[in-house]
Amino acid sequence: MKKVLLAVFTVVLVAILGFVLFVNASTPKNYNQEYPISDLKVEPDSARLARGEYLVYGPAHCGHCHVPVDKLEALESGEKVPMTGGFGLEIPPGVFYAPNITPDKETGIGRYTDGELYRMMRYNITPSGHAAFDFMPFINMADEDIYSIIAFLRAQKPIKHMMQPIELSFLGKMIYAFDGIKPGKPDKDVPKTIEEIESIAYGKYMAYAVANCRGCHTNRDLKTGEYIGEEYAGGLVFGPDNLSGGWQFITPNLTNDAETGIMAKWTEDQFIERMRSGRVHQYSPMPWLAVADMKEGDLRAVYRYLKTVKPVKNKIDETAIENPE
Ligand code: HEC
Ligand code: HEC
Repeated sequence: MKKVLLAVFTVVLVAILGFVLFVNASTPKNYNQEYPISDLKVEPDSARLARGEYLVYGPAHCGHCHVPVDKLEALESGEKVPMTGGFGLEIPPGVFYAPNITPDKETGIGRYTDGELYRMMRYNITPSGHAAFDFMPFINMADEDIYSIIAFLRAQKPIKHMMQPIELSFLGKMIYAFDGIKPGKPDKDVPKTIEEIESIAYGKYMAYAVANCRGCHTNRDLKTGEYIGEEYAGGLVFGPDNLSGGWQFITPNLTNDAETGIMAKWTEDQFIERMRSGRVHQYSPMPWLAVADMKEGDLRAVYRYLKTVKPVKNKIDETAIENPE
């Protein structure tokens, strides 16, 4: 009997050891074959440079992750802080450092072709070829907006600053070992260009494909990023983590539900006023400055779109809780 138990124990131990070794030795899948890099060449005309600047420092809030943590305050007060690489975003799968996206040739995007940058924005595949965790929700951006962002980034001053590579935890390695992170799947009807007018369609585009209102104001599985809640009904929980000063944040319900949705309570002008007045909670993850700086027409379009989203009853009692149990 003892011998049998010992044999079973040994088999289990070897299996566990083998599993740990396998996970630790595996590297994220490389997608270069399946998603070849195009030979795109973006012409940096003045319309693209202006649109790119607006998107990068405004609604697409790239700086929120791609500037050093001690520069966030300057960024929030409106300074165009160079995007030399951000702080470590700590989540269960690991610590993720947003890299230097100034055009430096050794440490920044000067190393990459326009095709590589386009693939990052459209499919979330990094220039090195792995599928990134879903930090950058831009896979449904219009081609023309991606070109504008590339043109603008390339026109910035190059700054040398090598960011640390991402540090995967055992969980993160396991997720990658079993190919749990896939390239982004853009919708079939992603537009080539988009008309900037105060329409519901443009509001949807901003909320969904550029400013990520949807990504934060919809409940999601924090391990995989998968959407598990009703769109815009809130309930996604942030922290407390290394950046939140002990606070936990829960996104409010942005639908038009009469009892529990913000859009039912606020008029269009109240919405604009609230968006413009910026951050109330010092540690809130919402990129308040980027939103506050959005063009008035864009904010009006977002409001009009949110009014049309399916109303969902989802009561969020508090959106900021200090030192939760
Ligand atoms: C929520 C945080 C976040 C936001 C917002 C964000 N990024 Fe990133 N970005 C990251 C992280 C994290 C990585 C590294 C991913 C990896 O290597 O797995 C990254 C990687 C990149 C890369 C690849 C660079 C390299 O050296 O591998 C580019 C290019 C990039 N981001 C551009 C942008 C642009 C342009 C925007 C705005 C339109 C933006 N990012 C917004 C977090 C963010
Ligand atoms: C990175 C995540 C994130 C993104 C992106 C984001 N939000 Fe939020 N939002 C939050 C969190 C967390 C809160 C609750 C804490 C707070 O009020 O700052 C919040 C609060 C709000 C509130 C309530 C403010 C109040 O005074 O009660 C509104 C309205 C709102 N967001 C609208 C938007 C819109 C519109 C967009 C897109 C343009 C957007 N958010 C993008 C995370 C986000």
